[in-house]
Amino acid sequence: MDTNERFPSFKRHGDILKLRDALDRAGYRDSSILDLLGLKDFPSLRGTDLPLLLRRTGGGSPLETLVRIFLMEVPVSMDSLEAAVHPLEPGALLRSGLVEISGDEALGTVRIIPFQEMLLAFDLPRRLKTPDHRDYVMGIGRSSHTLANLTVRSPSRATLDLGCGCGIQGLLAARHSETVLAVDLNPRAVRFTAFNAGLNGLDNVQAAVGDRFKPADGRRFDLIVSNPPFVISPENQYTYRDGGMIGDEMCRSIVKTAPAYLREGGFCQVLCNWCQFAGQDWRERLAGWFQGSGCDVWVLRSETRDAATYASTWIQHTEHHQPERLVERFHEWMAYYERQGIDSVGAGLITMRRRSGSNHWFRADDAPEKMIGPCGRDILHAFTARDWLQKAGDRERWLASAFRLNPDTRLEQTFQPSRDGWEEIEVRLTRTSGLAHSIRVDVAAANLLARCDGSRPLGELASALAASLEVDRDSLIEPVLTLVGNLVESGFLEPSDSLGDPELSSEEDFS
Ligand SMILES: C[S@@+](CC[C@H](N)C(=O)[O-])C[C@H]1O[C@@H](n2cnc3c(N)ncnc32)[C@H](O)[C@@H]1O
Repeated sequence: MDTNERFPSFKRHGDILKLRDALDRAGYRDSSILDLLGLKDFPSLRGTDLPLLLRRTGGGSPLETLVRIFLMEVPVSMDSLEAAVHPLEPGALLRSGLVEISGDEALGTVRIIPFQEMLLAFDLPRRLKTPDHRDYVMGIGRSSHTLANLTVRSPSRATLDLGCGCGIQGLLAARHSETVLAVDLNPRAVRFTAFNAGLNGLDNVQAAVGDRFKPADGRRFDLIVSNPPFVISPENQYTYRDGGMIGDEMCRSIVKTAPAYLREGGFCQVLCNWCQFAGQDWRERLAGWFQGSGCDVWVLRSETRDAATYASTWIQHTEHHQPERLVERFHEWMAYYERQGIDSVGAGLITMRRRSGSNHWFRADDAPEKMIGPCGRDILHAFTARDWLQKAGDRERWLASAFRLNPDTRLEQTFQPSRDGWEEIEVRLTRTSGLAHSIRVDVAAANLLARCDGSRPLGELASALAASLEVDRDSLIEPVLTLVGNLVESGFLEPSDSLGDPELSSEEDFS
C-alpha cells in the first residue's frame, strides 16, 4: 500500500524547478559525480565500500551533500541540505516525499541518477524488503538500458510507453515525439514518471494509470515502446516484475493488442520473455502470435536460459536478503515450469511495424554478440533492407543494382602459428557500431565487397571477380547473391537505390 498518495510531488510547480536548478548548480551530472566518487560508472557504486565513499564526499559542498542524500542513502545535516537546495526550503522537500527528517538530519527516500542528460528519480531498493514492496518502482535496470538502446528514434507524432515505471523510455522518446503517453498499472510509477517529466522540463509527457492499453483507448501511435513485467513465474508479488498471468501471456497479450493502436508505418518494440517447450521450434511458436497482425515482425533473441537457471537468477534478485526462503521459492518455480512443460525461456526484443497489404514477413534471429552504442538506426535499416529485398525479388534487379559498404565495416583476418609461419584461419567482416554482426567471408568475396562504393552494378563486379579468378561467371552468381542478401539484411551493405536514408532524429546520436 502506498503510504503517501501524492508522493513524489511538489505542491508548487516552481519548487520542482528550484530543485532542478539546485542540482544543476551543484554539478549533479554523471561526469562530476563519478569524478567525485572515483568510480567508472553508477552500477559500481554498489560494490564500493562506504567508508571510502564517505571520505570522498566529506567536504560539505552542495554536490557532496546531494550525492550523499540522493545516491548513497547517507543522512546529511539539515544545515548542509538547506545550503545545497537554497532557495528551495527543506520543508518543501519533506512534503514532496523526497526526504525524511529525523532530528537535525535528513535522509533521502528516493535515488536520483543522471542518465543521458536527464535526471531520473526512482525507489530505493530497500523498499523491496518492506510490506510496501508490491508497488516498488524500479530504477534503470539492464532491461531499461537494452530497450532504450534499441528504440527506433524516428520523429513520432505520438508515442506510447506501456509500463513506464520511473518514465525512462517515455522521457527519452519525448525528445523525438510531439506527445508521449506513459502508462502504468502502478499509480506510484505514474507519479514518478510525472515527477521526472517535471524535473527534466518535459511538458509533452502525459502519465496515466491503467492496465496495458486501456488508458490509450481510441488513440493511435507512431511508436509504442514497452519493457513490461515479462518474468515467467508462479508469483504475483512485485508489479514491476510479475505480470500476474500464466506463462508468457503478458508479453503475448501486448503484441497481440498493439497493432490496433499503431498508425500505418508505426513501430511497436517490446522486450519479451517467452516460454520454450521441448520439441517445439521457438520461432514457429512466436510466429503464431502474429498471424493476421497486419505487421512485419522481427524477433531478435538475445538469450535463452534453461528453466532452472532462469528461476535461480530471478529469485536471487529479490530474495537474496532471505536466504532461508531461496530453496522453497526455487521448488515452487520449478514445479510451475514442470506443470506447464516449460523447458527454457527465451528473451529478446520484438519489433513490429504496421503495414497495409498482405505479404507481411516474420523473422526471428539471434542477436549479434555485440551491440555497440545506440542500435535503433540498425533496427530501422533492417526493416527497409527487407522491404528492398522483397521488392527486388528478381535477381536481375539485384545484379543491376549498386551497393555501398557501410563505413563502419571492418575486415579482420585471424592467423595461427604453423610450421610454415602464420597460417590464415579465417577472414571476418565485423562492425564497429550498432548491431555489430560478425560474418565469415572468403578473400575473394572480401575483394568484391571492397569495390562496393555505390558506383558500379553488382553484375559488373561479379563479372570482374569471375575474370580475376578465371572461373565461369554464372557459377559465381548464386553465391554472390546469397552473400549480398545476407549482408544487406545485417547492415553491412546498402543498395544505393534503397528507399533513402530513414528519417532519424538527432537523438540517435546520444550515447
Ligand atoms: C520492468 S518494469 C519497466 C519500467 C520502465 N519502463 C523501464 O524500462 O525501466 C515494468 C513496468 O510495467 C508496469 N506494469 C505491470 N503490470 C502492468 C499492466 N498490467 N499494465 C501496465 N503496466 C504494468 C510495472 O508497474 C512496471 O513499472
